[in-house]
Amino acid sequence: MHNLQATSIRYLDGQLWVLDQHQLPHQESWLLCQSVDDMVNMIQHLQVRGAPLIGIAASLLLGHLAASQSYTLEQLREAAETLRAARPTAVNLMNNMDSMLAVLHTQGIEYLPQEAERLFNEDVALCNAIAQHGAPLLGNNSNVLTHCNTGSLATVGVGTAIGVIQAAHAQGKNIHVYVDETRPLLQGGRLTTWEMKKHDIPHTLICDNMAALLMREGKVDAVLVGADRIAANGDFANKVGTYSLAVNAHYHHVPFYVVAPYTTVDTECPDGNGIPIEERAAAEVQGVSGHFGSVNWSPEETPVFNPAFDVTPANLVTGWILDTGVYTQSDVASGVLKAALQSDG
Ligand code: MRU
Repeated sequence: MHNLQATSIRYLDGQLWVLDQHQLPHQESWLLCQSVDDMVNMIQHLQVRGAPLIGIAASLLLGHLAASQSYTLEQLREAAETLRAARPTAVNLMNNMDSMLAVLHTQGIEYLPQEAERLFNEDVALCNAIAQHGAPLLGNNSNVLTHCNTGSLATVGVGTAIGVIQAAHAQGKNIHVYVDETRPLLQGGRLTTWEMKKHDIPHTLICDNMAALLMREGKVDAVLVGADRIAANGDFANKVGTYSLAVNAHYHHVPFYVVAPYTTVDTECPDGNGIPIEERAAAEVQGVSGHFGSVNWSPEETPVFNPAFDVTPANLVTGWILDTGVYTQSDVASGVLKAALQSDG
């Protein structure tokens, strides 16, 4: 495979390296990924995370294993199935593994590296297309609120929601971003702040429960979030807390946009009820852990509910910013969104 380089992942001289997102923003350390077990572990522990990125990372690993010429077709098929099951909600992982498996079965092992490279380059192009479609929606002097992390740490390109924000900023618009900290794993507080600083985009970190107050005070002009899976009717799953942002935005008449590439669309899933939601360990809610160590603040064995994602119904969405364009509620009513979701890609 050729050398490939992104903010969050690198393929250099036959080795696959992943930026350890656990250590950010305090330390930029790179982990060598050599096996399916390594990749599954990194995905499950969110060292590599974000819907598009986990799909591309798993594809690069498969391409790398195929290039080593020491795996049979059956071993590579099993590897793809194991990677496919590493996390349940982001459909990019399943869609990318399906592309890799289709190439494996129709063309053979030697074509896997080039398919992995194609998926990598495609994600870069999809992010750019999304950013170009979305940026005009943000006016000069806009305050944008975002949740979780959807930038170059979650994709191999400029990102989805953050890509749109960055493009608007690059067009010279005065954009200020409210960054939800995103409990329990703090992707906003740790990662989006890191990206905002890197791009020199004015931003303010808030706790998740402060968004309604800001909206009530008229301080939010738009909410932009990413997605882990968009169902055929436009309902979508994203990081837990997205649904309450959508309800708050609807109540306060703040435009609410979901931003994603076609690889996040699940055409087989009719609506949000069919989206599998990952539940994670109690410890993530009982305390917090990271570069600094770990703190547990609740009494031992406190019962916990910890869904990693929630589902936002399509009727709360002002617009779907996809790589093919921006779709609105009237596109839902006329079937245009459904057609776009089904034909995308
Ligand atoms: O659990 P994570 O950090 O992988 O969750 C990520 C999100 O929910 C993102 O918003 C989503 O994957 C879109 S990333 C472009």
